[in-house]
Amino acid sequence: MIPSTAAPSFPSATDAPLACGLHPTQRAWVEVDAAAIRRNASRLQRFLRPGCTLMAVVKADGYGHGALPVAQAALAGGAGSLGVATLQEGVDLRQRGIEAPILVMGNLVGAEELHSCLHWQLMPTISALEEASLSHRLAAGTGRRMAVHLKLDTGMARLGVDWRAGAQLLASLHALDHLEVAGVYSHLADADAADTGSSDLTRQQQERFECVLRQAADRGLATGQRHLANSAGSLHGPSLHYDLVRVGLALYGHAPAPHLAGQVPLEPAMGVRARVTLLRDVPAGVGVSYGHQWHAPRPSRLAVVAIGYADGVPRSLSNRMEVLFAGRRLPQVGAITMDQLLIDATDEPALRVGSVVTLLGSDGDNRIGPEHWAATCGTIPWEILCGFKHRLPRLRSEDACHER
Ligand SMILES: Cc1ncc(COP(=O)(O)O)c(C=O)c1O
Repeated sequence: MIPSTAAPSFPSATDAPLACGLHPTQRAWVEVDAAAIRRNASRLQRFLRPGCTLMAVVKADGYGHGALPVAQAALAGGAGSLGVATLQEGVDLRQRGIEAPILVMGNLVGAEELHSCLHWQLMPTISALEEASLSHRLAAGTGRRMAVHLKLDTGMARLGVDWRAGAQLLASLHALDHLEVAGVYSHLADADAADTGSSDLTRQQQERFECVLRQAADRGLATGQRHLANSAGSLHGPSLHYDLVRVGLALYGHAPAPHLAGQVPLEPAMGVRARVTLLRDVPAGVGVSYGHQWHAPRPSRLAVVAIGYADGVPRSLSNRMEVLFAGRRLPQVGAITMDQLLIDATDEPALRVGSVVTLLGSDGDNRIGPEHWAATCGTIPWEILCGFKHRLPRLRSEDACHER
């Protein structure tokens, strides 16, 4: 499983502390359904072209769900490798006993970073000859070979060597005998475009990617695993699958765009819940919260809920979001504050101090997803998921159920 020869010993995954808290009196928490992630991984894997494997993208602490439980669930569901953005994210997974191949998708340019990569058997992304030569020198110094992935810029204009110089850099990597080319990849800039087929940009990126692959084949240069698709590219269909796909958002149960929903049945894995800490009855006309952005239109019962923008609820949702309680929707009112928000509970007499409301996730037949928040505040579901701060403990959903 480990992508290189000499193996340092990692603590076993079963020794690792649980990443999820279990405190029975949380004010608010993120609930993570690891079984949903496992099922999403296995459904995604089954959807892929035969021979194509799933890389679970677990960067940014598993898109806010907790990198370790997500990695474990995705690997149990059939993912063959993991993708992280930073060196530390990869090291953390190794230190917690994860042995699967890990690709670091950010750029590592310092000798210390690349040395650490070698030590922990993480595969760096190579965009230029400089970091390739440095990696080679470091690997040669230890007598080992270092597995790397070459990144091509085919139209994202972020990381990667310009695709026109891709075959030449690949040839240079092959000349460095302490490097092993484990993969060649690129990243799509517009795969979730809402047209009927792939967008012009996706088509152009794929043509450029294939052009480099042809040049490599003509020169007899092995590419290792070829990969291009993120979630949107993967759900788009087999033409973008190649040998491996790097899937983030879909693994967590969300389609990257409405027209890609339903390709694979996906279960959202995150719930965000918080407790009511105070109920207050106010007369009509009372102004509520900072700036009095909402005035009670009638005698009202307000509930104070113990979660705010410091926990990751965007303040721009003030007066524009709802929460779920007993399967029904209750409006949030007034400015969302740092640690608390208010809801209008006038029509919900069953709500009590200590009741748990759902901000994101399901309650009965109702569901509020990150895509709903994203549409309201003009962002994307990725940013909503990654926005939940560590003040909110991550609870496994089977444990959190006892909380309500
Ligand atoms: C290089 C790369 N590959 C794959 C992904 C996964 O993208 P998605 O969450 O859309 O599947 C990302 C995420 O931003 C990425 O940066």
